[in-house]
Amino acid sequence: MTTLVAGVLLLLLSVTGIVTAQRDATGDVLRLVSPEAYKFFHQSDDGRVGGSRWAVLIAGSRGYENYRHQADVCHAYQLLRKCGLKDENIVVFMYDDIAYNENNPRPGIIINSPNGSDVYHGVPKDYTGDDVTVNNFFNVILGNKAAITGGSGKVVNSGPNDHIFIFYSDHGASGVLGMPDDSYIYANDLNWVLRKKHASGTYKSLVFYIEACESGSIFDGLLDPKGLNIYATTASNATESSWATYCPGGQPSAPPEYDTCLGDLYSVAWIEDSEAHDPRTETLQQQYQNVKKRATTSHVMQYGDIVLSLDHLSVYFGENTAKYNLQPPTTAINQRDADLVHFWEKYRKAPEGSAKKAEAQKQLVEIMSHRMHIDTSVKLIGNLLFGTEIGPDVLNVVRPAGQPLVDDWKCLKEMVKTFETHCGKLAQYGMKYIRSFANICNAGIQIEHMAEASAQACVGIHADH
Ligand SMILES: *[C@@H]1O[C@H](CO)[C@@H](O)[C@H](O)[C@H]1NC(C)=O
Ligand SMILES: *[C@@H]1O[C@H](CO)[C@@H](O)[C@H](O)[C@H]1NC(C)=O
Repeated sequence: MTTLVAGVLLLLLSVTGIVTAQRDATGDVLRLVSPEAYKFFHQSDDGRVGGSRWAVLIAGSRGYENYRHQADVCHAYQLLRKCGLKDENIVVFMYDDIAYNENNPRPGIIINSPNGSDVYHGVPKDYTGDDVTVNNFFNVILGNKAAITGGSGKVVNSGPNDHIFIFYSDHGASGVLGMPDDSYIYANDLNWVLRKKHASGTYKSLVFYIEACESGSIFDGLLDPKGLNIYATTASNATESSWATYCPGGQPSAPPEYDTCLGDLYSVAWIEDSEAHDPRTETLQQQYQNVKKRATTSHVMQYGDIVLSLDHLSVYFGENTAKYNLQPPTTAINQRDADLVHFWEKYRKAPEGSAKKAEAQKQLVEIMSHRMHIDTSVKLIGNLLFGTEIGPDVLNVVRPAGQPLVDDWKCLKEMVKTFETHCGKLAQYGMKYIRSFANICNAGIQIEHMAEASAQACVGIHADH
């Protein structure tokens, strides 16, 4: 036990290393189709909108260590309200376990930056707790009220002239976005929903912002064909982490009483950028460039009908706004390790010898044990399937940009299910191995072989552990 704890501490030191994001001095050249071409296709780009504006805001996590995702979503809600959207046109998904969490130093309040004001007040509780599901999320987008279970029943009841904005914040991995019940939004399903929405003729244009690790993989090679009138940006490309910010000890730091990160770098970058500019004169493309300059620890990406990015923010966010001053954060922490910061801070702050300290230590050890279990079993499965020589390489293969993660999505889902049956939930940390399971599919491995290898690798493990 002592060596494990020592290992945990060593690991913690190495993973909570804080990266200093440098501002990109070179600037970005706008690589766009000509404004003339844009005008040709969009006759009425005078910043005014014919139809209604709709928004879907969704935080995919739960737990105080993930404070920041729900904070991002609440903050986005406040922005849209301030810009003039009505509650009846904003659908919010959040687990809602933060504001009154026992760890929250300011009960009933959520902030999204060190000096930020409360962003929780007034947020509609459309889908909270167990109602935050993939099924409800998809049916809200599709406006399919009959298929909703639980929640407020609010859906995007949009018409052909309407504009839709969707913002997701949480953990992700290759081809998936996380949900609070440890299920996944698979990229192929999400793109199918978007194509279906397009086919129903119930929007004019749709903008999708995603904060998640490897979020580029949600659209790379998948948001096709172009012409769906969808423009998307993601916090990271298909193979890299996205980053948390306003963390304890960061630059600037969360207030001392907070032992969790308050925001995510891409998310606060686009929200604060919107607050700092007039939405009637700033375009989505300008916002993309501004966010890219600030969130330099990853590659902020854009996909789909890039021509739509010549739209003004007001087309999606509304027209009224107050002005703020931008305060770019300078440090960020890898999404996948930001939860450790919380548990580590809790451990560090607890008095020596107290029950609280023992409890915090137990939590840390459990988290690290789960990580080690997942690491070891995936590696072992790779070795069993492909041999120790090439196993690790096969699992880590990254396909070229523009090619989806996997050809057979059904296979991927079955591989994940098979692993989880024998080895337990991947959960937040284990999501990073989705690419390995995709590679197992791409290598033509049959489910039966995967089941055998998983059973062998995780012998003695109960899936409900
Ligand atoms: C927060 O407010 C304090 C005191 O007013 C100030 O010193 C600090 O620079 C502010 N920090 C940020 C990130 O705005
Ligand atoms: C994605 O990000 C990784 C890590 O930062 C980088 O090595 C890779 O070149 C990027 N790929 C693309 C297609 O931008």
